Amino acid sequence: GRVAVLMGGRSAERAISLRSGAEVLKGLLAAGIDAFPIDLCKDGADPVAQLLDAEFDRAFLILHGRGGEDGTLQGLLEMMGKPYTGSGVAASALGMDKLRCKQLWMGAGLPTPPCCVLTQETDLNQVAELLGYPLMVKPVHEGSSIGISRVMNLDELKAAYAQAVSYDHLVIAEQWIKGSEYTIAVLKGEALPIIRLETSHSFYDFNAKYEAADTQYLFDDQLSDEKRSELKRLSESAFAAVGCTGWGRVDVMMDEEGRFQLLEVNTLPGMTDHSLVPMAAREAGLSFEDLVIEILKTSFN
Ligand code: DAL
Ligand code: MG
Repeated sequence: GRVAVLMGGRSAERAISLRSGAEVLKGLLAAGIDAFPIDLCKDGADPVAQLLDAEFDRAFLILHGRGGEDGTLQGLLEMMGKPYTGSGVAASALGMDKLRCKQLWMGAGLPTPPCCVLTQETDLNQVAELLGYPLMVKPVHEGSSIGISRVMNLDELKAAYAQAVSYDHLVIAEQWIKGSEYTIAVLKGEALPIIRLETSHSFYDFNAKYEAADTQYLFDDQLSDEKRSELKRLSESAFAAVGCTGWGRVDVMMDEEGRFQLLEVNTLPGMTDHSLVPMAAREAGLSFEDLVIEILKTSFN
């Protein structure tokens, strides 16, 4: 049948989604799939009307952020009776919500750094006392590190809150984990090869993710076999605890004592030429075309 590649959307990650979507479309066409793009919300278009007008049998979702990754589009497709790739409504909504994800993991006994919610009324001095500097300040429902800051003092914390709250009504401060940053792509419930990220930036921010030439992506260079399988099992458990299905990516820190701490799960990770899931797949022996076919298969169930 015909596959609609849904991309674009209205979120702050629209431009990244268009980059991911172009790659996915190219991969599907190269694999001989009858695929075509729909740029949702292009020029302010109504996504519901766009979907109702289009003729397709299943959807390959490659939107990032709210209105695409957060369960709302998944719900619409459920109502239309159209199969789609990746996680369902509830897991997508939870995956887009860094706070609820962390609460879920804590409830499941999985490690994640301590955090607290910031509001206009929060005593920021108290937050700093509780969590210590450096602190990460994050909009709860954003992706690609948009609106995220790493802060070292009260003035920076105030400014970071003001910035984060301009993206989202809900903002958290999270303890900074000094150590190494890892990302683990998960395909059909199973972890792909682990990638360690190294950046010259103070954290793996938007620019380090998509632009910087000096961001390093390292495979298998540091962990013992034991730690590697521990990290893979943890990522698979984190993915499953949120109810994710199909594919996704789990971001994890390892502190200086070698303990892993879950940061977040991404239910619709980037597929740009600078993105991590395609890199991990390649390391596992899957070409980009193989990967998009495997992801497409997740819509058959
Ligand atoms: N939110 C971006 C697209 C990612 O996780 O790759
Ligand atoms: Mg994310």
